[in-house]
Amino acid sequence: MNAMPRVSAGLFAVALLTACVTREAAPAPPAVDAARPVVVQGAMDLEIRKLAGTLEHVTEEKVHGWTFWRGTIDGYPVVISKTLKGMSNAAAATALAAERYHPVAIINQGTAGGHEPDLHVYDIVLGIQAVNLGSFKTGYRARGRGSSFAEWTPLDLMRSEGSAGEDPNARSMRRFGGDEGLLTAARRVRGTYRKGRVVEGVIGSSEIWNSEIDRIQRFHDQFGTMAEEMETASAAQIAGLFDIPLLGIRVVSNNITNGGTYDALTGEACQEYVYDVVKAYIGETLKR
Ligand code: 5AD
Repeated sequence: MNAMPRVSAGLFAVALLTACVTREAAPAPPAVDAARPVVVQGAMDLEIRKLAGTLEHVTEEKVHGWTFWRGTIDGYPVVISKTLKGMSNAAAATALAAERYHPVAIINQGTAGGHEPDLHVYDIVLGIQAVNLGSFKTGYRARGRGSSFAEWTPLDLMRSEGSAGEDPNARSMRRFGGDEGLLTAARRVRGTYRKGRVVEGVIGSSEIWNSEIDRIQRFHDQFGTMAEEMETASAAQIAGLFDIPLLGIRVVSNNITNGGTYDALTGEACQEYVYDVVKAYIGETLKR
């Protein structure tokens, strides 16, 4: 063996070791005296710009496609996160926020579609639970027999180590519970919201905008969904894996079950309410 290959092999071993060490290194802990921020998420500008504008001492941080605004509310650190739309984008934004900012709590908020007729545009749903409305196993149907949603069974992808489709234990709807501390703050300031009611219920998330009334009715009957959107259950799943408390707060911007037409300004109304929730949470839960 000549000297060159031995040197290359040595360098390769060192490079490999460095790579392993880098990959396994724990993420940097938050500075000891820095308070862990509250993160507030929203998918679109119309759901977060107003909140970002309320931050004191604000700085903007871009991480590829995601934007975070860091600042304070009442002197307490708050990060507003634009997650982008949909489950994948929201999951990635949540993981980024968890790793970068070590939040003490996360609120996922924004617009949603109503799943029951007595819920009106501008009403707000506090997510006592969030469910994934995009995770199912279909029934078997032979060629030419079309599709029937009635035969679909939910799949809990967090439940099975093997093939979820084959495991009967995975045939249930996973429910991500809203955090009690955040719920307490949200209930406390309920009276400040004058543009509609603030109710509590199940938020359903998927990357489908449902407009089939029978399907919506089935979600409502089977899983108790009060409203649907595209991010909360995903953010809740990731926050759960990081042990970060999370609450979904969603304003009804449209409701096909009662003819409620889309109103983009609901996104602002939701932010006004969430601002009060954040202040209550900071003042009464975190600063105690
Ligand atoms: N169905 C699904 N998503 C909705 N959104 C508002 N209304 C609905 C609805 N009826 C939200 C989603 C996503 C964007 C399309 O608006 O959360 O971010």
